[in-house]
Amino acid sequence: MSRFLKERLQGFVSYTPGEQPRDKQYVKLNTNESPYPPAPGVLKALEEADYKDLRLYPDPTGKALKEAVAGLYDIEPEQVFLSNGSDDILNFSFMAFVEDGEEIVFPDITYSFYETIADLHAVSYRRIPLTEDFRIRVSDYTGIGANIVLPNPNAPTGIALSAEEIERIVSTNPDHLVLIDEAYVDFGGESVIPLIKKYDNLLVSQTFSKSRCFAGGRLGFAAAQKPLIDDLLKIQYGTNPYNVNRITQLAALETIREDAYYKEMADRIRKTRASVTEELRKMDFEVLPSEANFILMRHDRIGGQEIYEKLKENGVLVRHFSTERIKDHNRVTIGSDEQMEIFLEKLGQIVREA
Ligand SMILES: Cc1ncc(COP(=O)(O)O)c(C=O)c1O
Repeated sequence: MSRFLKERLQGFVSYTPGEQPRDKQYVKLNTNESPYPPAPGVLKALEEADYKDLRLYPDPTGKALKEAVAGLYDIEPEQVFLSNGSDDILNFSFMAFVEDGEEIVFPDITYSFYETIADLHAVSYRRIPLTEDFRIRVSDYTGIGANIVLPNPNAPTGIALSAEEIERIVSTNPDHLVLIDEAYVDFGGESVIPLIKKYDNLLVSQTFSKSRCFAGGRLGFAAAQKPLIDDLLKIQYGTNPYNVNRITQLAALETIREDAYYKEMADRIRKTRASVTEELRKMDFEVLPSEANFILMRHDRIGGQEIYEKLKENGVLVRHFSTERIKDHNRVTIGSDEQMEIFLEKLGQIVREA
């Protein structure tokens, strides 16, 4: 820390991204990336791109891309906001929408970035405990008169709420923002984007990082009624007007044209998730019912930290959290069938030797 850091930020604990070690080749199942490449049309568009254009700024409005996203979800382009990854949407929302003296609520076990950005912007927050079996209790969020952020499916549990349950939360908190983070919705959840037509307090964020195999391209988008989108634009133009670069805009446009490919890849992930879950249960792992591209698992006899370390020694990276309630769990990204075979083989050895 330098002596110039603001006093308020001196105790700020920043987000720790999943490790990206370079010391050897790992089977990397720790950051929920897709094991599959972008669609052939996306790769072709990148090969044929005129890189001389990089001297020019990108379209700050992202017009073509917004129209494509709107077309895909049957909403208006003015109801779409584009961002440099969906973390930007979370960041801008915490900056923009929670009044001083108000609070935002989210589950105790959830995407830890919510807490980080709340701390960064000095926003008050309250964590609502998940039930014993790691579910969000809908009644904890209905009519509570507070801003709410929920990932659906939740991370790192992978458990999803139905669109009807989300609607109950949105409709009973009409004077507060409800932000639904649908980073993993394409792997089995139900998007509530159609509900933005009905509710002016609903903001839905999605990302191209997971089901659209584009984590390195950094694209997120939000859907909401125009006034909320205009608020986000105000913040974005006040921080980084050219937040989605030229290459990303070009590739993302192709990504939308190749929607069928991405649906097929998500299907593959779902199938692999089902077979891996079955194998893990045979090894006496408790696996939460996931609708995401990861699973959260726990073994009765072996601690989470120990499994994480032994897998890493064997060249397999998973995500371990030190949070008390889930410290005996590990979150495992669903990779390709080949990757998951290696994971199951190494894990099998660890279990037998324990
Ligand atoms: C629940 C959730 N929301 C949002 C994100 C942010 O993704 P990105 O910034 O890559 O769009 C992640 C990333 O892992 C996530 O797990």
